Amino acid sequence: MDEKAELKVAGKSYFFPVITGSENEKAVDFSKLRDQTGYITYDPGYGNTGACSSAITFIDGEKGILRYRGIPIEDLAEKSTFVETSYLLIYGHLPTKVELEDFRTKLTYHSMIHESMLRFFDGYPSSAHPMCILSSMVSSLSAYYPELLDPVSDEQVDALVPRVLSKIRTIAAYSYKKSIGQPVIYPVNALNYCANFLHMMFAVPSEPYEVDPDVVDTLNTLLILHADHEQNCSTSTVRLVGSSHANLFASVSAGISALWGPRHGGANQAVVEMLEQIHRNGGDVKAAVTAAKDRDSKFLLMGFGHRVYKSYDPRAAIIRRHCDRLLSKQKVKDPLLDIAKRLEETALSDPYFKERNLYPNVDFYSGLIYRALGIPTNMYTVMFSLGRLPGWIAHWREMHQSSDSSRIGRPRQVYTGETISPYVPIEAR
Ligand code: ACO
Repeated sequence: MDEKAELKVAGKSYFFPVITGSENEKAVDFSKLRDQTGYITYDPGYGNTGACSSAITFIDGEKGILRYRGIPIEDLAEKSTFVETSYLLIYGHLPTKVELEDFRTKLTYHSMIHESMLRFFDGYPSSAHPMCILSSMVSSLSAYYPELLDPVSDEQVDALVPRVLSKIRTIAAYSYKKSIGQPVIYPVNALNYCANFLHMMFAVPSEPYEVDPDVVDTLNTLLILHADHEQNCSTSTVRLVGSSHANLFASVSAGISALWGPRHGGANQAVVEMLEQIHRNGGDVKAAVTAAKDRDSKFLLMGFGHRVYKSYDPRAAIIRRHCDRLLSKQKVKDPLLDIAKRLEETALSDPYFKERNLYPNVDFYSGLIYRALGIPTNMYTVMFSLGRLPGWIAHWREMHQSSDSSRIGRPRQVYTGETISPYVPIEAR
């Protein structure tokens, strides 16, 4: 018999279906709650609310498990490339050789942006954060593809997907070049996705630039680790905006804005700034941990804690290993890595962090790798956006193809304001 959940309210009993996910996750289907009872659910922060069903990513926050389309993140980080993982997330299966080659070719041939867009970059002050440039530029891309913006046309969406992935990478690199006053470097078709990005970031017209294969490998891994994380703040934003049938560029641009905040993707920049501050203060990690525990200080240990993970974030463990490997290969000694490790050790042995299950998240070590790759601090969240792009696209596409998400996203509220009040003329106020 189908499982039902009983709700007793105002002396009456109501029964609601229980749905079960493929990993045995249970949910009570309250989609008819208001129709049947007149009540709504109240869940600020959505910690207990399933907004959709999804077959893309599975997370078990208690056990520290993350899988894309069923494949463990550890295997993808070791064996896959970012392009292959993007295909997996968006289209639901690992590509065959032919499918992968076709996808790569499309990414290669859609990498340039309209030349007139280069003038947009000149309008920003040099102090502009690259995330504001990125989100505006991505929204502006809609202006150049009016014939590909219908979210319910499979043909148009399929034509748009490689353009979104490829052009946003180009815009990200250009926003950096503009911020340091260097000429933009056009994409090179002979280079793969990650190598091309590094080339656009670091080459200059006056001398040849060799892309380091170790750096390409590390970048592939980092982008794979960021590629999806089910219904996080930015992905939910992309879905919500997309539910109004806004086009893919507009939806992704909104996701970029959501990611910018320091409680979400902006944390990687905040972590490095925090580590630099601790370094300037003589490396006293205990003082930082004490400040983070003080509820009046408003200081949080950036890169610690997660809404879903209540154990070690599996991505943080992989990044920490890569960070050690890359720095020792490049014979670089970064004092911030030493501070980060001591900070982690001190926090993890402190009852405040233990009791609240606060562990390092993906952002705790990612900034240190970006530093080792020569990527400046204000570009870290841009790097996160590049990584998260295939996840946003996959969710946006899944939403448009699924029957249960065909309605516009529109939460309700519990109104707590004034009841009906008279309009008082200004002279009488
Ligand atoms: N430092 C100190 N205390 C913390 C931290 C932290 N980093 N994170 C959470 N806490 C405390 C809270 O104050 C709260 O304490 P209380 O129970 O005494 O009130 C308790 O731990 C639970 O925290 P919540 O705020 O309820 O956790 P929530 O799930 O809402 O927030 C979040 C998760 C936003 C990630 C939070 O841990 C945080 O702000 N961390 C720092 C920022 C960060 O690293 N963000 C990146 C997240 S990963 C990502 O987006 C890619």
